[in-house]
Amino acid sequence: MCGIVGYIGKQPCVDLLIGGLRRLEYRGYDSAGVAIMDGGTTRILRSQGKLNNLTKLVAQEKPVGTLGIGHTRWATHGRPSEQNAHPHKYGSAAVVHNGIIENHAQLRSQLQSAGHKFSSETDTEIVAHLIDDEIKAGKGAEAAVRATLAKLEGAYAICVLIDGVSDTMIAARHDAPLIVGVGDGENYVASDVPAILNLTRDMIFLEEGEIATVTTEQIAISDLAGNPIDRPPQRILWDAMMAEKGGHKHFMLKEIHEQPRAVTDTIRDRLSPSKADAYIDGFEADPANVRKLFLVACGTSWHAALVGKFLIESLAKIPVEVDLGSEFRYRDPLVTDSDLFVAISQSGETADTLAALREAKRKGARVLSVVNVVGSTISRESDGTVYTHAGPEIGVASTKAFTTQLSALILLAIHLGRRSGALDEARAGELITDLLQIPEQMKSVLDHEATINVIARRYATARDFLYLGRGINYPIALEGALKLKEISYIHAEGYPAGEMKHGPIALIDEQMPVIVLAPRGSGYEKIISNLSEVRAREGKVIAIASRGDASIGDLVDDLIQIPDVRPELQPLLTVLPLQLLAYRIADIRGTDVDQPRNLAKSVTVE
Ligand code: AGP
Repeated sequence: MCGIVGYIGKQPCVDLLIGGLRRLEYRGYDSAGVAIMDGGTTRILRSQGKLNNLTKLVAQEKPVGTLGIGHTRWATHGRPSEQNAHPHKYGSAAVVHNGIIENHAQLRSQLQSAGHKFSSETDTEIVAHLIDDEIKAGKGAEAAVRATLAKLEGAYAICVLIDGVSDTMIAARHDAPLIVGVGDGENYVASDVPAILNLTRDMIFLEEGEIATVTTEQIAISDLAGNPIDRPPQRILWDAMMAEKGGHKHFMLKEIHEQPRAVTDTIRDRLSPSKADAYIDGFEADPANVRKLFLVACGTSWHAALVGKFLIESLAKIPVEVDLGSEFRYRDPLVTDSDLFVAISQSGETADTLAALREAKRKGARVLSVVNVVGSTISRESDGTVYTHAGPEIGVASTKAFTTQLSALILLAIHLGRRSGALDEARAGELITDLLQIPEQMKSVLDHEATINVIARRYATARDFLYLGRGINYPIALEGALKLKEISYIHAEGYPAGEMKHGPIALIDEQMPVIVLAPRGSGYEKIISNLSEVRAREGKVIAIASRGDASIGDLVDDLIQIPDVRPELQPLLTVLPLQLLAYRIADIRGTDVDQPRNLAKSVTVE
């Protein structure tokens, strides 16, 4: 999730832009830059790493100008580097961008065929090339941007400066947030409220497909067709801390609600519904040469690996072994050069997972990683990486990283299944169609937060919880238990429901809330008998069940319903109520939800 700041007014703007970028640092970034209109031409200053590197450059170069744009980059396409940092300039056009241009490869090759030379690996740079082409064709600034946006597919929030146009900046958004701040004789653009909250509380939130043409005295908003839109500013009453969390009390809650967007960003430009296929960022795995897959990770990422086993064995019919990073290298694993080792890690820096990766490489395996942080150690030591586009995950308890890992593993399973022949075109097409519905269905689950809050209040004082699931939802039971224990400090255990009779049922009494994952599908009848066993022993049962299941309500104490989806996709929905339940219970208990005691966001020690 990159950061964007723009200023047009009477003040020298470079320090103001950098101040705005500093207020967006919480979002995480790997490089930064500014473009300052200086004598009719934009000067571009960029640096890799933290903002201090940019401020040193600015101190040397001393750009002057009262019109400028700034950017902090969280890499998605192209590794962190100065030449991949924004702003990108080509000809007369300087651009900063947040989002993913899905058809960037096709547009890039068209531009290269027309003689354009590129200086970066980013999807963003093509926007500067396209705008410059339109300017050269005689269009004005706004018309040039509008014509360019019509060619883009995917998500963008952009801010543009054009050489020779010293009185205007152009902003536009589609599927990525962008705000226009209203000042007195000056105006601002930002990707998020905190960047400009110190300058104004009057903000206009651009909506899908809208363009803002901003001068010192005027903000003209229009749609892509050029129709003017009247959008009065809103008064923002948040304090700075609330603003960083998007109005949520904690980053974790903000990130729980970011999941539909994060899953969309992870799957959208890697699926081809027309070909009923999925792509893994330039990594080709021919199943004919893969004896076995090893999915290795820690914590929540290990739970994703357990789901991945179900997906890959079911859809690709390739054997999968799952292991904890901390165990793998000590058991002298039987890895061969015909195996594919998949490291799953949000941070890409977890020492146990990295050590396991190195052991697998030493034994000759190819390595693919599923990672959220571009350029992290695990991604650099892999033969290929599927980046989850979750954006920076600030809360220590992993939420959006987890569901984007699940999404990446679904893509991998489809990719392998289509190549092993185990997944035919028709079934793959149905699965992809259903997968593309999931972000909306995730939103519908998250919209029931109030129901979950009521349940949380009922059980917030419990000492122990049990989480039960079967099949592909068993790892979700583990994940739900981990979420609760790591942020509320209540003891919780996840168990395969079928294991109840082999011991855990001795724990059941009226003090023991039991969360049961009971969506429709294979094993449903057995889950019903499991939850009946719990209730027969006075245990309290909270069930996560499929909408339309009319019978389960009478068998449980509390019911949370989710859309009825195919088993492969259920984990993306069943985990959401468990995240919200854990969050709300922890919040009621007053723990430090974003920074729980004894925990770190990235465990870089063994
Ligand atoms: C999960 O909520 C925890 N933050 C923790 O278990 C985490 O998943 C684990 O440390 C692995 O981290 P990674 O995904 O960055 O490798």
